Amino acid sequence: MADIRVVEIKNVSKRFDDLIVLDNISLEVHRAENLVVFGRSGQGKSVLLKIIIGLMPPDSGNILIKGQNISELTVSELNRLRKNIGFLFQGSALYDSMTVRENLSFPLKRTYPDMSQSEITNKVVSTLDLVSLEDAIDKMPSELSGGMKKRIALARSIITDPELMLYDEPTTGLDPITTKEISELIINLQKRLNMTSIAVTHDLICAEIIADRAIFLKDAKVAYEGNIKELTGSNDPFLKNFFSHEFVPQ
Ligand SMILES: Nc1ncnc2c1ncn2[C@@H]1O[C@H](COP(=O)(O)OP(=O)(O)OP(=O)(O)O)[C@@H](O)[C@H]1O
Ligand SMILES: [Mg+2]
Repeated sequence: MADIRVVEIKNVSKRFDDLIVLDNISLEVHRAENLVVFGRSGQGKSVLLKIIIGLMPPDSGNILIKGQNISELTVSELNRLRKNIGFLFQGSALYDSMTVRENLSFPLKRTYPDMSQSEITNKVVSTLDLVSLEDAIDKMPSELSGGMKKRIALARSIITDPELMLYDEPTTGLDPITTKEISELIINLQKRLNMTSIAVTHDLICAEIIADRAIFLKDAKVAYEGNIKELTGSNDPFLKNFFSHEFVPQ
């Protein structure tokens, strides 16, 4: 398969007043690759995802999605591009007053306004099937467990068949077994749909399952890059300390 660069981050910097959050970051993510982004709290991981999707402008530098520089796109071109990008926000909440069916129909109708009601129903059912929650279709979010809500939120973010998925802490707050299930779901979806993804996580269980490659943000820079084994097995004192303290042992 051709080596297609889905995301190119070129010399991106971002600061808030005196706080430099990203300092001249460059990075590429290729088609069907799963990149994991590590970093301590407050190191700019969520900011990086928001910049990639165009929710926040960088102070300098460029983001290219499939070769298109997002800062040069018109609003309608950016909207069209965003239809191909799924975003699972940190602490992603479902709409509490809507059923699961309505929660999933919502992005579908927005992205494909011409879809018929039966097409919407079919797509909702088949997507719930992917996360093994067909039976929850007419439930309210309050009737679901935390892990089920995460799976529904995941279903909602992939229902439009995005080519690129951005996950911000997809497994935070879940027990190790559910974390493993969600991570396996992410990797299965990615393989089945040939998705490219960037996942921010603090969770080594999740990262070990999903990552093809990982980077580590520190002091506003990409401080380390490699596969998970290289990073976790490193003798670097900072990485050793991070991996021994940051994660709940299995
Ligand atoms: N809109 C904003 N205005 C001002 N400061 C911001 C804004 N968004 C983020 N920041 C600051 O930028 C820094 C990086 O924030 P970010 O949310 O990217 O951290 P993070 O690495 O995702 O942390 P966590 O692991 O806790 O989610 C933080 O110090 C935060 O306070
Ligand atoms: Mg964050």
